[in-house]
Amino acid sequence: MNVYDTERMVDVMAPQGYEETDTPENADLVVLNTCHIREKAAEKVYSDIGRIRKIKDKKNGAGEEMVLAVGGCVAQAEGAEIMKRAPIVDMVFGPQTYHNLPKMVTNSLALKSRGEKSRILDTDLAVDEKFEQLSKNKVKGKATAFLTIQEGCDKFCTFCVVPYTRGSEFSRSIDDVMSDARKLAEAGVVEVTLLGQNVNAFHGVSATGEEWGLPQLIREIAKINGFERIRYTTSHPHDMTEDLIKVHGDTPECMPYLHLPVQAGSDKVLKAMNRTHDSASYKNIISDLRKIRPDIALSGDFIVGFPGETDEDFEQTMELVRDVKYAQAFSFKYSPRPGTPAAIMDNQVDEFVSSERLTRLQALLKQQQIDFNNSVVGKTLPVLIEGLGKTQGTVFGRSPYMQAVQIFVREINATDLQGKIVDVIIKEAGPFNIQGVLA
Ligand code: 5AD
Ligand code: SF4
Repeated sequence: MNVYDTERMVDVMAPQGYEETDTPENADLVVLNTCHIREKAAEKVYSDIGRIRKIKDKKNGAGEEMVLAVGGCVAQAEGAEIMKRAPIVDMVFGPQTYHNLPKMVTNSLALKSRGEKSRILDTDLAVDEKFEQLSKNKVKGKATAFLTIQEGCDKFCTFCVVPYTRGSEFSRSIDDVMSDARKLAEAGVVEVTLLGQNVNAFHGVSATGEEWGLPQLIREIAKINGFERIRYTTSHPHDMTEDLIKVHGDTPECMPYLHLPVQAGSDKVLKAMNRTHDSASYKNIISDLRKIRPDIALSGDFIVGFPGETDEDFEQTMELVRDVKYAQAFSFKYSPRPGTPAAIMDNQVDEFVSSERLTRLQALLKQQQIDFNNSVVGKTLPVLIEGLGKTQGTVFGRSPYMQAVQIFVREINATDLQGKIVDVIIKEAGPFNIQGVLA
């Protein structure tokens, strides 16, 4: 979602003549779009501010201006603190106010030109206005695009900051989502990924009062000419309805890949996490999905070392992983987040124990990823070409199962293939990608 938000920030600044640069030395405006999900991510902001500060000081010394802004969820959670700790920062804004960026930049520059200090803070949490503003922007034609349909979360998992930083759950209206989707298709987008912190809790309303859940939305988007692939992320097991599972069987555009975080395999830990599902109900969803779409590739999120997790609890996570068999996964050491209930639980797990568990879990998940990638060797897969590959004579794309695919094309003009779905014979597999040639 931060990638999506960053792209939208570029869109909102474009009418003012701003464009992206890879070198901060050239920038008139630097925006640090931050993540608060784990401590490591949040800490990065202060080292980044330090790095930009040097460039900003140098520019100021040469009589040039640079606006430094901190956006995203760290800004939302610690805005005032950032202002205090880093006087070099000109403005701070949260994930729901970045549509105001042009106004904030103008104000900041006006203050500076009068010789005053720029100290702008905008961390309101109301969402509707943001999407209304963003919908007015032009869209760029690429092979793949994100489309936010839902934001925020009311689930309050005891470890998670999202309900506090992104605000409560909000679904965009059906008319807005469909209009944005049509614009993307017209711009040449072939694959759309519907985004939301709790995307399968989507419940949009139309101007005529009709209400759609995610299953109906996917079916309607599939009817739009141009889209050949639809994905959605991130889902919560709680909202994995029968109808949504059915979509994977009745809508060919809905890709055979699902990111469905489970977090842990122990029911005791899941309860303490306030996850509202247990390991059995999670496994039932997986088995229902596999009945409908036997080849579906699964991905998950895992937290090890949640307060109170014993060796036995952790073994249940390992057991669940062995049972489900993931194609891909993300796993993390529990990181206490200020303001969340788990951070003040008195049974915190020793760091050393968590690290050891994480190493074991990651080894298992990596082996499963290798096994999954190996299982497609010799098969012919439809691959959506996104662009040039890293090495010469190759292009890069994604399989229906989200695998990164490197394709050797030699004499073919690679740019002709961009945005096309081509059949690829898979010859080799590694842990992180698969390789093949055009069929
Ligand atoms: N510590 C570790 N991992 C976390 N996640 C969310 N909050 C925390 C935390 N406090 C992980 C979860 C979630 C993913 C986006 O980040 O696994 O699904
Ligand atoms: Fe965080 Fe996801 Fe739980 Fe919401 S459902 S609180 S976003 S982990």
